[in-house]
Amino acid sequence: AKQWRGVLREYADRLDVTDATPIVTLGEGGTPLIPADALSSRTGAKVWVKYEGMNPTGSFKDRGMTMAVSKAVEHGAKAVICASTGNTSASAAAYATHAGITSAVLVPEGKIAMGKLAQAIAHNAHLLQVRGNFDDCLDIARELAAGYPVHLVNSVNNDRIEGQKTGAFEVVDVLEDAPDFHIVPVGNAGNYTAYHRGYREELARGATTKLPRMFGFQAAGSAPIVLGHPVKDPDTVASAIRIGNPASWELALKARDDSDGYFGAISDERILEAHRILSSEVGIFVEPASAVSVAGLLERSEAGQIPRGSTVVLTVTGHGLKDPQWALRTADGGEVKPTSVAVDTAEVAQVLGLTAA
Ligand code: F0G
Repeated sequence: AKQWRGVLREYADRLDVTDATPIVTLGEGGTPLIPADALSSRTGAKVWVKYEGMNPTGSFKDRGMTMAVSKAVEHGAKAVICASTGNTSASAAAYATHAGITSAVLVPEGKIAMGKLAQAIAHNAHLLQVRGNFDDCLDIARELAAGYPVHLVNSVNNDRIEGQKTGAFEVVDVLEDAPDFHIVPVGNAGNYTAYHRGYREELARGATTKLPRMFGFQAAGSAPIVLGHPVKDPDTVASAIRIGNPASWELALKARDDSDGYFGAISDERILEAHRILSSEVGIFVEPASAVSVAGLLERSEAGQIPRGSTVVLTVTGHGLKDPQWALRTADGGEVKPTSVAVDTAEVAQVLGLTAA
């Protein structure tokens, strides 16, 4: 029987993997590209959603982690380290333990979603909560990797970007060309950089006729690239992208300039509104950071910047089950209380507003 073999095997012709590379895979990639009629009718564009929550650990990080951990093992590493707002640590822990090596992960204390914390612990990571923010964690991880026998698997490691570019390959496989726009949420801007690289390579090998305009969105309280300077105390409900000094800043600016791209900022209120639209109208459940793509599309469309009929792909980066609490909030910040009923069919029918057929 056939099954998807993970991105390193599926795209072996376009990645630096050789017979000497031990392929560490959990079957990542091959995620659905879903037409989103509710977003198409709101914008007049043809909108597709690349649902990266369907990866093995529930985020796009798995594409980069299969590459980074495979290469680490190829080079003899016995331990990997990363800083994380949660998803990278969950992914690093899973791939490291699958490979039979150790992982150490540094996360900002009290600032990562419960599901992600649980994943790293479940996958046997040596998890440390640092009394600082993500940027502090990354500084320490870099220093450790420079001075100790641990292999850094944050996206400053180019193997991560290489693995993540396969997201663009999959979009082209389905659409049989590049879209006009590709929209991603931005934290360290590694994924923005990776999609641009993937599309550049597809154009170079003649698989597409165009390069998509790369649009990236940060949360307004954590928008260093939009502001043009690092943010000291980044804050947003989108904890995955609470980052004040993006690691791939320079690469991302190059990708923006090369693709006639754009960076914008989205308020927390609009992030949560987009989260509700995606879950309640399209049927896709994501964590708040992922909804930034949807909010970015709606904002640019309202600004008249997305021509009608354009093809737009939104990457939604992480699964909603990692950080589900936001679904239980009403639009005005109240708490959703599920209705309680007795074991009584007539009462249930009445509460549901049904009348007998
Ligand atoms: N969306 C989610 C769900 C993320 O977890 C991240 C990054 C991003 C978007 C932004 O991607 O950093 O490449 O611009 N999460 C990292 C982590 C920082 O540690 O899990 P980026």
